[in-house]
Amino acid sequence: MKTEVLKVTGEEADRAHISKAGDILKKGGLVAIPTETVYGLAANAYSTEAIDAIFAAKGRPRDNPVIVHVAAFSEISPLVAACPEAARDVCRRFWPGPLTVIFKKSPLVPDAVSAGLETVAVRCPAHPIAAEVIRAAGVPLAAPSANTSGRPSATTAAHVLEDMDGKIPLILDGGPTPVGVESTVLDLSGEAPLVLRPGEITLEMLAELLPGVRYDTAVFGKLPEHTPARSPGTKYTHYAPRGELLLVRGGAADAMRTILRLAEGQAGAAVLCYDGEGDAYGGLPAVAFGPAERPDIQARKLFGALRELDGLDAKKIYARLSRQTEGAAALYNRLLRAAGFQVIEAEG
Ligand code: TXA
Ligand code: MG
Repeated sequence: MKTEVLKVTGEEADRAHISKAGDILKKGGLVAIPTETVYGLAANAYSTEAIDAIFAAKGRPRDNPVIVHVAAFSEISPLVAACPEAARDVCRRFWPGPLTVIFKKSPLVPDAVSAGLETVAVRCPAHPIAAEVIRAAGVPLAAPSANTSGRPSATTAAHVLEDMDGKIPLILDGGPTPVGVESTVLDLSGEAPLVLRPGEITLEMLAELLPGVRYDTAVFGKLPEHTPARSPGTKYTHYAPRGELLLVRGGAADAMRTILRLAEGQAGAAVLCYDGEGDAYGGLPAVAFGPAERPDIQARKLFGALRELDGLDAKKIYARLSRQTEGAAALYNRLLRAAGFQVIEAEG
């Protein structure tokens, strides 16, 4: 299959490109679309065959459910069995935006979407192109991140093409995605509100409406073996470069010295570093992902930087953690997962 990439730039031609995307989706095909978080691989959420095609293109394990995207809050009713008061309040405040809410599902949601769970994850993206494509398709769109399963999510159309070339008919190129990490996943289907995945909508923001909301244990720690995962996605290695990532915590000078010592004489060693710090690593290949004190920029650039390190054929990747990086829950969670939770303390 030939994969077409069409730019959507806010010009007149966009309308033709969006209606082309809508037509493909109506026929059960897949289209990669930009959202404000990362690119999504979209398909008609009511079509089991279309969902099957998503799983095949990504090589995604069948027990990992996908998020359903709507263009407005009013469109959730056919998807959910009930909408608790708390969900209504949260959606009113944060939709459209980078927040996914888990509800008890309606029977209309195919098992392929929910991977056999009794719940469905729903999100209303703030990206204008995503909203227009949902409207053009005329159905809610199931859309996981548009990367091969396990690889860093795609934050540009070029990243999508890297993973999906020849597998899907169309990629809409809306430029780099502004947030850069996936939506916050908030589970409101159980007794207590639980954040299963941190994102740009933070725990503190949610706590204003949901007192007592907390992180699921899998967010910052490895799940013990044989523990059932609340969010099936947390079981898998995620966002990971091909090389092995090791995070080093501590003061800047100590962390840099530790990395230099560990990487000495090591073939394929490389560094994920902050802007302006590359030269401090004694000639090791280094990819920068933003200023040390700007976690928002780091979040935007992280997945691209991990892909770039793959391009350098890095076998072992070292990254020091600034205080600001560790304090930014969504970013820190993605780094931890990409590193398989390998964090060491810098030598003093
Ligand atoms: O920002 C985003 O959310 C992006 C864009 C494309 O919208 N999508 C995205 O989808 O990140 P995906 O499939 O890569 O991640 C969805 C996460 C997975 O960890 C999955 O296990 C979890 O949400 N999830 C989906 N449905 C769920 C459910 N019913 N219960 C628990 N977790 C669920
Ligand atoms: Mg994903």
